[in-house]
Amino acid sequence: MTQAASPGKIILFGEHAVVYGRPAIAAPVTQVQARAIVEDSATAGIRFVAPDLGSDYWLAEASAEDPLATTVRLVQEAAGLAQLPDLTITISSSIPIAGGMGSGAAITAALVRALAGHLGLDYLADNRRVSELTYQVERLYHGHPSGIDNTVVAFEQPVYFVRQQPQNRIEPFAVARPLHFLISDTGQRSSTKIVVSDVRRQWQAQPARFEALFDDCGRVADAARQAIQAGDLAQLGCLMNENQRLLAEMGVSSPALERLIAAALRAGALGAKLSGAGRGGNMIALITPKKEQEIRQALADAGAAAVLSSIVGQSDHIPHNAGGGHGHAGRLAGNRQRF
Ligand code: PMV
Repeated sequence: MTQAASPGKIILFGEHAVVYGRPAIAAPVTQVQARAIVEDSATAGIRFVAPDLGSDYWLAEASAEDPLATTVRLVQEAAGLAQLPDLTITISSSIPIAGGMGSGAAITAALVRALAGHLGLDYLADNRRVSELTYQVERLYHGHPSGIDNTVVAFEQPVYFVRQQPQNRIEPFAVARPLHFLISDTGQRSSTKIVVSDVRRQWQAQPARFEALFDDCGRVADAARQAIQAGDLAQLGCLMNENQRLLAEMGVSSPALERLIAAALRAGALGAKLSGAGRGGNMIALITPKKEQEIRQALADAGAAAVLSSIVGQSDHIPHNAGGGHGHAGRLAGNRQRF
């Protein structure tokens, strides 16, 4: 039996502009994780079991777009294997679905690592390879994702990311002082694909205005990297507010997001913004630990569907446990209760 876990993620700076080649920053959220367990089976075929979703099916019956089946086929292709052994693959996740926390990417990355470990394909468990394979699966859902989600989920560290040819710029970087965030869910699901294509339509209609907005987002992301590396939390909070203003101008905020952002700032957050595609999903607030309870309460009073706390820059890395065992079981169950 081989298991692997991958974290959720938040985009700290630069969503949407990242699709247009501007820098962005994302960080893993290890309090929530996706996990894949791969076991040899006595029954012929490859079976997928996801107890949380109540699904149980065979690879041979899966549709061409099924993400788990696609992941298995991509790993098989990348390894050049004519045939795979009979397997049972169990998937579980505590990452909210369609909330901008990278749940799909994390499931794929965990499955790639667990399969690579189980089949003895260590070279496929390299962060860059995991990220590339995850990207190919993400494309099925998001059209042309920038690649930041799969990158942060595979590297499991804060990353500075620029989408570019021939190869994306991926720079994992150190955090000088731990960053305490509250991640708060509006409870409204939103489709990344739809929001991204709305922004594209507006960019096509008003190219000069949107190029200028994207440039400003890029400058904010660059300044944010410096603030994170210098441990300047006050500056970082201001930059989050500035990024939120630019995202609202792009038309990707929403009344529910604005309500939560205003509540967090009133209760003493250093900065707050939406995270991910917007129009729903999650917002993030940079806080100091002594204000946590007050800000949590303010978010709950403002209608938050869930509030999760996450510290970026403090043991972000998940031990992979690729050789088997039950390493994450208690931790994952415990973290589930934090939502
Ligand atoms: O909604 P999420 O967390 O998958 O974030 C999407 C981020 C965008 O910048 C809006 C799109 C992308 O592909 O980077």
